[in-house]
Amino acid sequence: MSVFVLDHPLARHKLGLMRDAAVGHREMRALAAELSAMLAHEATRDLPVGRTTVKGWAGPLEVPRVDEAAVTVVPILRAGLGMLSGVLGLLPGARVGVVGLQRDEHTLQAQAYCSKLGERLDGQVALVIDPMLATAGTAIATIDMVKARGCTRIKTLFLVAAPEGLERLRQAHPEIAVHVAAIDERLNGAGYILPGLGDAGDRIFGVRG
Ligand code: PRP
Ligand code: URA
Repeated sequence: MSVFVLDHPLARHKLGLMRDAAVGHREMRALAAELSAMLAHEATRDLPVGRTTVKGWAGPLEVPRVDEAAVTVVPILRAGLGMLSGVLGLLPGARVGVVGLQRDEHTLQAQAYCSKLGERLDGQVALVIDPMLATAGTAIATIDMVKARGCTRIKTLFLVAAPEGLERLRQAHPEIAVHVAAIDERLNGAGYILPGLGDAGDRIFGVRG
């Protein structure tokens, strides 16, 4: 599994702002979108670029063209929605397939409650987005669902990942690419990332639970 950490002063700065517990949902949402755009910029570096002919001012001109509709962005409800505007800002023509999963607070097992991925994802590049990779149960279940629809090119974008989650994800899906703004220290006993962001969904949306 290839892991790419955003190596940029502004990424470190923005994530540092998000770690301040006093920062409210308005700023959290803006920062999550900005960091997500930076992650998407890196994760789309190897998208195929075709060519098309346009009417230039001086006559016909061949120009590069990315097939944006060949990309499906997969936000994991709920917190993944907080990254969607940043990713779609770069790829406005991408498709969006939504999945809903929630961790049981006691068992930490991810339970799926929604799947709107479309029937087939053959030939698509999937960008799975979620701010947090903790135990990786949620991400692994989501990638299982994306693969079951025929997708073979899967990239995942997280703001913060725990080393334990990265290792579990590597064992379950060794061929995928992972893009993160930071790899933090560890999980605590309740499955929260330290130092992390706390409950990312609650903080980005301003609603508890
Ligand atoms: C959070 C987070 C991930 C998941 C990560 O979502 O956004 O989806 O936990 O944990 P894991 O790696 O241990 O599976 P949560 O279940 O809190 O749901 P929410 O997005 O609705 O807040
Ligand atoms: N989900 C979160 O929102 N935060 C964590 O640290 C772990 C899981």
